[in-house]
Order: sequence, then structure tokens, then C-alpha cells
Amino acid sequence: MPREVAVVGAGAAGLAAARELLREGLAVSVFEKSSRAGGTWAYDPRADPDPLSRDPAAPGTVHGSLYASLRTNLPRELMGFLGFPLAGRVFAGDPRTFPGHEEVLAFLDAFAEESGVAARVRLRAEVLRVAPLGQGQQGERWSVEWRGEDGVVAEEVFDAVVVCIGHNTVPVVPEIPGTDKWSGKQMHSHNYRTPEPFRDQSVVVVGFGASGIDIAREISNVAKEVHIASRYCQDRLGRVELYPNTWMHAEIDCIEDDGQVRFAEGSAVAADTILYCTGYRYHFPFLDLDGLTVDDNRVGPLYQHVFPPKYAPNLSFLGLPYKSIVFQLLDLQSKWVAAVLSGRVALPSEEDMLAAVLEDYRRMKEAGRPKRHTHTLWPEWVEYLDWLADQVGEPRLEPRHSEMYEKVIKCIWSLDDSYRDRWDDEEEEQWS
Ligand SMILES: Cc1cc2nc3c(=O)[nH]c(=O)nc-3n(C[C@H](O)[C@H](O)[C@H](O)COP(=O)(O)OP(=O)(O)OC[C@H]3O[C@@H](n4cnc5c(N)ncnc54)[C@H](O)[C@@H]3O)c2cc1C
Ligand SMILES: *[C@@H]1O[C@H](CO)[C@@H](O)[C@H](O)[C@H]1NC(C)=O
Repeated sequence: MPREVAVVGAGAAGLAAARELLREGLAVSVFEKSSRAGGTWAYDPRADPDPLSRDPAAPGTVHGSLYASLRTNLPRELMGFLGFPLAGRVFAGDPRTFPGHEEVLAFLDAFAEESGVAARVRLRAEVLRVAPLGQGQQGERWSVEWRGEDGVVAEEVFDAVVVCIGHNTVPVVPEIPGTDKWSGKQMHSHNYRTPEPFRDQSVVVVGFGASGIDIAREISNVAKEVHIASRYCQDRLGRVELYPNTWMHAEIDCIEDDGQVRFAEGSAVAADTILYCTGYRYHFPFLDLDGLTVDDNRVGPLYQHVFPPKYAPNLSFLGLPYKSIVFQLLDLQSKWVAAVLSGRVALPSEEDMLAAVLEDYRRMKEAGRPKRHTHTLWPEWVEYLDWLADQVGEPRLEPRHSEMYEKVIKCIWSLDDSYRDRWDDEEEEQWS
């Protein structure tokens, strides 16, 4: 049975994992490359030297992607851990139902302290390489090479490694014909912090997920014009009523020779900046393992998005899936990994896990879902959470919570960001 477990990353995932591993009686070392725990929620005012962040290994690369004004897009009730709620307590003086990022960071700090995890976190400890030592006398153990604050690189051996490094750092930037010759500014939302630099500009915002919606809205208050380019908004082209100076377009077709940005529906605009809110890709620079790949944003093969069959159970990945209640998902995945590592819960055989993964891939293909959506749980996100809960004997998702989550998604898509401040009144109405 594995006794010594390395957790890579001290964001929400690493902290949740460490709590569960400690509860199972395992020895835990959490490696965190930055100077504090909290991951994404530790707002970093710096941005990458390259506004498109093309090289993830470039010096000075920043982990975080939060902007200064960010408020959660989920209500407190959906952002707690089991037995450690965010609702009903105030951690950094911001009692709002959809608090600012400082409140979530303070919540994570309190969680780390109270669960005893904080004492297990090594700060300024960057993991450089994780590799199996191979069979033989050592057994199947794992080498973890890491660099400490003093720059010295050390190697330590662990029975198991849990990878918790997040996936909101390395941008996806679409290739658009003509951008190479374009003289305007291009940047990715990873490097967006405040709207001020866009004052009086004409800005094209590409992509329209949760961040794109928030950022377009924020910029529209200071910019001359905002033009949103999205593949998924064909039914609402034209002026966006709710925002000042904002228009919705189809995706960008190309940049014309005269510098105008041409959209697929035919219109074209002059722009100062193209801001890509086009999401992120998985990237594990410290892993180079036979039979485990990242291909078109599919990390695979992974059994239930967590265990690579060939290296299970001693190597696992937390927090890969998109489109679900993140902290509840992290909590349940953590409980599953910890229970498997302590031997309380068994995994299927390597062959059976691999067969299950291949079957999932086959079904995706049949349904016409592209490979890059492998870890997008929508629309079966409840089934996944319930499956995890069943593995570890936790109660399944409360219907109230799944309804809340689906309501939030609708609110986000309505483009009316006042839902955050209307929420409590509406909930009261609904339940009274
Ligand atoms: C703009 C934005 C808004 C969001 N809003 C919400 C929201 O409202 N509600 C919500 O629930 N979720 C939200 N999320 C999702 C958010 O990512 C999760 O809440 C959560 O932070 C994921 O935690 P994580 O631990 O998986 O990753 P992260 O928080 O990214 O933490 C990973 C940690 O690993 C460390 N690390 C990386 N590589 C190494 C290495 N080689 N060695 C050592 N340490 C390493 C990093 O420094 C970091 O501390 C948002 C995300 C973004 C980008
Ligand atoms: C996992 O780690 C334990 C403890 O080191 C070891 O006994 C076991 O063989 C490993 N399992 C695999 C499949 O590598």
C-alpha cells in the first residue's frame, strides 16, 4: 500500500486532495511552485511578457488568469467543500452571494489551516520531473525532481503522485489568416487584468465563454466599441442591447489587407486590439510518460478523467473536467483517489479500465463530439458527480444544487451580469 504521496500544486484541487489523503492516514507532501497556496484564486496583477503567451516555458510566465474585478460566477453555496462550506461564513469581509476573488482565497486559506493541510505544503517548490522508477528492488515507485527556493534541484521518491496543477494557464489562440501581418495588438484573456488599457479603443473580443462575457461587458464601459466574435451566437448577431457600444458577430474570417477585421457573416470593422477569450489547454511539462498523451486537448487514456490505466493507482490527475460544480468535483475526485490509494476502494483491472476509456472515446465519436471536448462533462455532469459519490459512499448531488448550477449557466448566457446581485431575491421568491 502506498504510504508517501506527493501532491503537485496547492490550488483548490491540491488542498482538497491533501485533506483526503491525510484522512486516509497517508503521508502527504504538497509541492507548490508559487509563494502561496490558492492557485487560480491568488490574484496576480502581473501578466506574461508575451501578451499571447505562446511559450509556456518562457521566463516570467504567470500562473493565474484572474482579472482584478472578478467575482465568482457560482453562488457561495456551490463553492464549498464537504464539511467546509463557503456559505454562511465570511472570510475576507465580502459577504456577497457571488463574492470577489479575495473572499475565495481567504476561504481556501482557512480550509488549508483547519484541515491540517497547510503544514504539509512546501512553498516555492516547483516540480520539474515526475517519472516511474520502474520495477525491481525499489518496487513501482515514483521519482519527483523539484527545485526549491534556493534554486537547488532535489530528487525524492514517493509511492504515489497526484497531479493538481490546474488547466487555466496555457492559452489556446486560434489561427486567423492575416493576423501575422496585422499591426494591431493581440492578447489572450490570460493576460487581461483591468479595462483601463482599452479606453477609447475599438476591441474585438474572440470567444464567448464565462470569461469572454465578463470581460466584454467590463471593457464596453470604457472602450469606443466592442465587437464580439463567436461561433455560437449566430442567432443574436447585431447590437447587444444590454451593453454600451457592443456588437455581436459570427467568428472572425480573416484580417483584410487594409487591416479591417472581417467576420464570417460579412461585416468588417477597424480594431485596435483583438482579445482572445478562447480558453486554455492542458499542459504537463514535468511528465513524459510512455502511453500517456495530450492530443487535441485530450489527456489520455484516463479512466474517469483521473487514472491512467497503465500507471493506476499511483499516478492520478485531479480537476481535469470542465463544466461542473468545480469544488464539489474536486472534493469527490479527491475522496476517490485517497480511498483507492489507501486500499479501501478497488479499481478495475488495467485492461478493463482501458476498455472503458476506449468505449467512451467510441461513444464520443459516434455522437459527433470532437476530441477536444473529451473532458467537457456537459450535459452529463450530474451523472459523473453521482458516479464519483457512489464510489466513495457519499450522498449524491442535491437536486437543489444541480438546479442552481443550471440556472447560473442560463444567467451567464443571458449576458445580464446583474444576476449576481438579483440572485438572493429571486431565490427567496422561488422558495417562499
Ligand atoms: C477566470 C476564471 C474564473 C473562474 N471562476 C470560477 C468560479 O467562479 N467558481 C469556480 O468554482 N471556479 C472558477 N474557476 C475555476 C478555477 O480554476 C477553479 O475554481 C480552481 O481554482 C481550480 O483549482 P486547481 O487546483 O485545479 O488549479 P489551480 O487553481 O490553477 O492551482 C494549481 C496550482 O498548481 C501549481 N503548480 C503548477 N505547476 C506546478 C509545478 N510544476 N510544481 C509545483 N506547483 C505547480 C500552481 O502554482 C497553482 O498554485 C475560474 C477559473 C478562471 C480561470
Ligand atoms: C503502487 O505503489 C505501491 C506502493 O509503493 C506498490 O506496492 C504497487 O506495486 C504500485 N502499483 C502499481 C500498479 O504500480
